[in-house]
Amino acid sequence: MLLKLTVLPGDGIGPEVTDEAIRVLESIADVFHHQLSVSRKDVGGAAFLSSKDPLPSDTLQACLSSDAVLLGAVGGPSFDSFPSHLRPESGLLRLRRELGSFANLRPAVCFPTLEDCSPLRPETVRGMDVMIVRELLGGIYFGEPRITEGPAGNRTATDTMRYSEPEIERIAHVGFQLARTRRGKVTSVDKANVLDCSRLWRDVVNHVADQYPEVKLSHMYVDSSAMALVSNPSAFDVLLTENMFGDILSDQAGGIVGSLGMLPSASIGGRVALYEPVHGSAPDIAGKGLANPLGAILSGAMLLRHSFQLEKEAICIESAVSTVLTAGYRSRDLAKPGAPTLTTSEMGRKVADAVRADASRASQLAAS
Ligand code: IPM
Ligand code: MG
Repeated sequence: MLLKLTVLPGDGIGPEVTDEAIRVLESIADVFHHQLSVSRKDVGGAAFLSSKDPLPSDTLQACLSSDAVLLGAVGGPSFDSFPSHLRPESGLLRLRRELGSFANLRPAVCFPTLEDCSPLRPETVRGMDVMIVRELLGGIYFGEPRITEGPAGNRTATDTMRYSEPEIERIAHVGFQLARTRRGKVTSVDKANVLDCSRLWRDVVNHVADQYPEVKLSHMYVDSSAMALVSNPSAFDVLLTENMFGDILSDQAGGIVGSLGMLPSASIGGRVALYEPVHGSAPDIAGKGLANPLGAILSGAMLLRHSFQLEKEAICIESAVSTVLTAGYRSRDLAKPGAPTLTTSEMGRKVADAVRADASRASQLAAS
């Protein structure tokens, strides 16, 4: 199969981690006889610096004419004072909107061998396997008006949280359909005791639930879900939520599994899907080989699964990551103080090697 990808390394640690994801995808392409075609384009701060636009039109065109997009990260302190439409983040938000990726899947899994990386007790985090389904194109991220006005010293700022029934309906379907393939539970997160958007959310989710009698639905306020996520993370299966709550809870889930660097994501539902690690650009460690590439590598697995239906290949990457971690290899974010660590590219090589080793074992087995 021809896998035509656009890669948007972006800012900070983005280029380092996407290089490793590509390295691992190349090993998969070799082993499973696919052809990988990769075109790299700028996005975010990198794109602003090269063309004064955080989402240049040739980047967008390349994305729209490929099979899938892999992105590293965007943002950095040097852009903090930029007007919002020139900020790196606005490039990413526009990209999500242009691609139509309304459903953001963020699996947060505690690898057994990383139980002791969690700030929680191992028995609390054990078995955690949550799929956060975050609505990605609505809510306060995109609602109008958004404006800062008034004289200095007495300015007011307005953001608008807005949801329509169809927007809620389509993301709810994604949540329920995923739950059917997992443990059959959806926890819908809202703030229905305060927000109209959340009351509409709850109403529509209840409606959609009627079409999935085999899925058990419960509702939780976002504050109480934040508490439940740290006190009993393994109780969650699919966590369905609107844009900003999902942004916050997914970072929290990253903290719980031991490092945000572990979390991949897929943004699906539009013309072309977008894959990115959940972590940000981490400017403080950029360019030093200290970043954990596993979130980006696991995003590559999601890319194979969701854009190409290459389930075997996706599992091969996931089990290679697991093998490498079980063998004790750690990037800096996962290591105990003073323990040996791998650089970003050493970690990427280990995973690529594990992919090849796994494949050659499988072919020996098949031959015997
Ligand atoms: C994320 C990030 C983005 C978001 C930023 C960079 C715009 O935090 O993907 O979680 O808020 O969606
Ligand atoms: Mg975030």
